[in-house]
Amino acid sequence: MFAVPANTVAVAENPALRHPVRVALAHAADRASWAHLLRYDPERRFAVLVSRTEAGEVWLMSWLPGQGTGLHDHGRVDGAFTVVSGELSELVVRRTTEGRVRESRRVLAAGQSRVFGPGYVHEVRNDGVDPAVSLHVYRAGGRTLRPYALDPLDGPVPR
Ligand SMILES: [Fe+2]
Repeated sequence: MFAVPANTVAVAENPALRHPVRVALAHAADRASWAHLLRYDPERRFAVLVSRTEAGEVWLMSWLPGQGTGLHDHGRVDGAFTVVSGELSELVVRRTTEGRVRESRRVLAAGQSRVFGPGYVHEVRNDGVDPAVSLHVYRAGGRTLRPYALDPLDGPVPR
């Protein structure tokens, strides 16, 4: 236990410094702020802007089975995404310092999050049988997608 001095003033939190997973989870919990925006598009993955502030952007996405992003990065933007319902598969590709190409795959269930930043090349897909919904936070710079191709020798290369 410790005593807080009586003259202590709580400093307001700077939203720009809030961890992007915290932002994504807070939006996920506030379903009323985005439920009316949710659509499922059989032609392409659905994405809609939920909010834009100086701290960044929040996007809502829905994924029907088989829909995905293709390999991409987010330029100089960092952020995070959280699965709200369903399951998403993520493939991360990188070159090691020895020049080898490394791929890692994971399945993300509802409530799980991933963080991304500059140099993070990944592909997200719905490989499940049910639709999936996710919330994505892009900090300063906003939503940016740069497509990549996967070269077996050189690894991820910008297209
Ligand atoms: Fe991404």
